[in-house]
Amino acid sequence: MYVNIGIIGTPLSHTLSPIIHNYFLHNTCINGGYTVFDIKDSSNLENVLGFLRDHNFVGVNVTHPYKEKVYELCSSYSDVAEYSKAVNLIKFSDTGMKGYNTDVYGLEKLFEFNKIKLDNSSILILGAGGASRALVTLLNKHNNIDLYLSNRSVAKAESVANLSSHNITVIPHDKLSTIDCDIVINTTSISDGDFDFLNVGMGIRHYAIDLQYSSGMTPFLDFMRLKYKHLKLVNGIDMLIMQAYKSFNLWTGREFEFDIKYFKSNMLKL
Ligand code: ATR
Repeated sequence: MYVNIGIIGTPLSHTLSPIIHNYFLHNTCINGGYTVFDIKDSSNLENVLGFLRDHNFVGVNVTHPYKEKVYELCSSYSDVAEYSKAVNLIKFSDTGMKGYNTDVYGLEKLFEFNKIKLDNSSILILGAGGASRALVTLLNKHNNIDLYLSNRSVAKAESVANLSSHNITVIPHDKLSTIDCDIVINTTSISDGDFDFLNVGMGIRHYAIDLQYSSGMTPFLDFMRLKYKHLKLVNGIDMLIMQAYKSFNLWTGREFEFDIKYFKSNMLKL
């Protein structure tokens, strides 16, 4: 018996998911492996997923830019995936593919581990892709939040804003100077550090959070640190590890104790 799992998305050159899941497999004495499928051409998505299902994959994680496209290919959904219309995990079955969203769980743990209070706060979300959908879904569990959502494409921001049960305002990039809030959260996949659109003197009181991850600073956090000396800075590594834990649990049914601090310093060398 073996467990084939993996990840689809692009670009994936920096993904840490194989280290995390292969550690989980080792830790639970499950025979199997986690493989990376960097799919450059989205028109191949359906064929690749069919191939993986036909070759006994249990499932795959889905990352940018395919979380919303894969939603459309699934035949059934977990409640959270159905609500957010974003899928970051697939389980294959004889009848099709079921889509889940474990990002929402990962985000919940990120805020919990970093002791970030969300109730009674004002939050600016940057980006309106799959990660933004998961974040807006999680925030619906909290009370009394004023939300601002800003995205390059305003139409996409409006579609994500429709998921929110809070008082939410869509702000075009060129109106960001009007922002005054407690927390800013970057959900975009901007990888070249081009955050010039934020160079407008927004008011941010407490936290800058980046759902991207690295050994410490990310380009977004570096940018915010230089502009706002007082902010606490948090990257997305805890979200990455905890969405992976939940994914592994859904694929294998296994739950196990693991020390995230030990894991980060000894396995990921962070
Ligand atoms: P994920 O699954 O990680 O959320 P995604 O669904 O591909 O990734 O979403 C990426 C987000 O980053 C989108 O909101 C995208 O903006 P658009 O909706 O306008 O495409 C945003 N993004 C990516 N590159 C960007 C850039 N150079 N400048 C501004 N926003 C960018």
